[in-house]
Amino acid sequence: MDKKQSYRSVAEQIKAVTEDENNIIACMATVSCLLSEAFPDFFWTGFYLVDDKKPNELVIGPYQGSLGCLRIAFGRGVCGVAAASGQTQLVDNVHDFAGHIACDSRSLSEIVVPVFNRAKELIAVLDVDSTKEANFDEIDQEYLEQIVTNVFARCTML
Ligand code: SME
Repeated sequence: MDKKQSYRSVAEQIKAVTEDENNIIACMATVSCLLSEAFPDFFWTGFYLVDDKKPNELVIGPYQGSLGCLRIAFGRGVCGVAAASGQTQLVDNVHDFAGHIACDSRSLSEIVVPVFNRAKELIAVLDVDSTKEANFDEIDQEYLEQIVTNVFARCTML
């Protein structure tokens, strides 16, 4: 299977498992698990949620992988820049990204996709890391953005 086929197949699985579920944590746990199972080169796959008590801070959510940092301020690291800008960040080599937060020194490339709710408010970011350089491209961006939109744009609450 090529990457697009793998994404189409995992997107169908995610849809089937989450379509009757609107608890955000349940959906995030399911998305992290299924993406990480579908792509063995995803070294860390998970979500940072916007903290409702500290709206300029992200707090760790469901993930698959090694220990992640617990909190990231908006604007800091790749996740913080994705949250502050509302734009997907594609980073070929994290060592070239000013302010990158090294939760695990084995991570080399990453993609971070902002997650919005039905009211188009930022609720989280999806962070996927790889130990390979330049592991992510526009195909990952297209499909991961589609997946988070399909799952979370219908969520109204935690
Ligand atoms: N690398 C991220 C931090 C999160 S972890 O890698 C799990 C960043 O700079 O945003």
